[in-house]
Amino acid sequence: MGTLSGRRVVLGVTGGIAAYKAVEVCRRLVDAGAHVSPIMTDRAREMVGAATFSALASEPTRTSLFHDPDTPIPHTVLGQQAELVVICPATARIISDIRTGRSADLLTATILATRAPVMVCPAMHTEMWEQASVQENLEVIASRGVLIVGPERGRLAGGDLGEGRMADPETIVAAIERTLAPGDLVARRVLVTAGGTREPIDAVRYVGNRSSGKQGHAVAAEAAARGADVVLVTTKPEQAPTGVRVVAVETAAEMATACALEAPDAEIVVMAAAVADFRPAEIVEKKLKKHDGAPSVELVATADILADLGARKPSGQVLVGLAAETDDLVANAAEKLRRKKLDMIVANDVSKPGVGFEHETNEVIVLMADGTRHHVPLSDKRDIARAVLDAAGALLDTDRPSSPVDPTNQEQE
Ligand code: CTP
Repeated sequence: MGTLSGRRVVLGVTGGIAAYKAVEVCRRLVDAGAHVSPIMTDRAREMVGAATFSALASEPTRTSLFHDPDTPIPHTVLGQQAELVVICPATARIISDIRTGRSADLLTATILATRAPVMVCPAMHTEMWEQASVQENLEVIASRGVLIVGPERGRLAGGDLGEGRMADPETIVAAIERTLAPGDLVARRVLVTAGGTREPIDAVRYVGNRSSGKQGHAVAAEAAARGADVVLVTTKPEQAPTGVRVVAVETAAEMATACALEAPDAEIVVMAAAVADFRPAEIVEKKLKKHDGAPSVELVATADILADLGARKPSGQVLVGLAAETDDLVANAAEKLRRKKLDMIVANDVSKPGVGFEHETNEVIVLMADGTRHHVPLSDKRDIARAVLDAAGALLDTDRPSSPVDPTNQEQE
């Protein structure tokens, strides 16, 4: 089941060069299970053909208020059915039209005829983007609740570089997922760690492990998609999902410091990182030279971050560990659950094909502190993330009042 299964999205495409990227947004939305109704303005059709969206979306592209024998008043039907209207790309003209309430064509009429949230993804040249008129229009529509995603800095049409490039399709779809999230984790503070730590030997070498960070990143992405406020402490920041606050670390000690800072506020902590258990006792500042012969590297134990978090767990916090095992899966994981004072542990047998390190898939047994357990068969790491957060979410204190969250929050560190 997709993250947007059955959700109705009107995709309004206006006349910017970035219209070609809206094709990718459309495809991703449909892949996520959304019902996408495309509307194109006349100028958008100068950029991309209506047939492209008709082929990819859930229904044919609409371009006009008139001449549709099946839907004589399409703007009201589309506006009433929509759960979200996304304008992608949004030109300076449509932003101005939204501000003034102008109804000039099917898209502007639909925006007026809907009670659903409206999201705009601006795309224009830097000079246009920086115009006081454009900025003021955006400020006004944002203050009325219109969600603004992007733009970013990057390459623009004609080879220029600057602010005004439309947000990436992945970012836009993540913002849509957050806006339409079922919301069981809305405004919940979630801390996730991911990736293998690297413990330096000298200036260029390190002791590491094979963790790809994929399972932790999938948990972070899923939590953000459900509306949580996510902090991701990761050794693979370049692969982090959008919509989460990223804290980049390299060593176990850096991860421990970041966790000590972030964990006290978190309501759910998922420790998916493969933390090195040992590090070189000394780090040689320069590069060790081959002609000096093979060095002997003395290893010393690192701190057990999860056990420390367990010892200092604030009341109400749900603490989740992962256990990578090659034998006695349940017994070993249950022992870690008790020793580290966890609420649940997600155990995987990494000796099985397709399970754990570097794979896109995983197979796990989720063990709860009350002794119950359930098996999640081999599936995509995002599905495993869903099962983990279902179980963790069920342990949350439901009496806590939740604060409102900004679904467009894209902050990254
Ligand atoms: N963990 C941690 N700090 C460490 C080692 C592990 O926080 N120094 C966490 C991992 O992120 C994981 C859990 O503890 O959530 C279990 O990790 P695992 O490597 O399976 O267990 P270990 O405690 O390291 O025990 P062993 O290596 O003997 O299996």
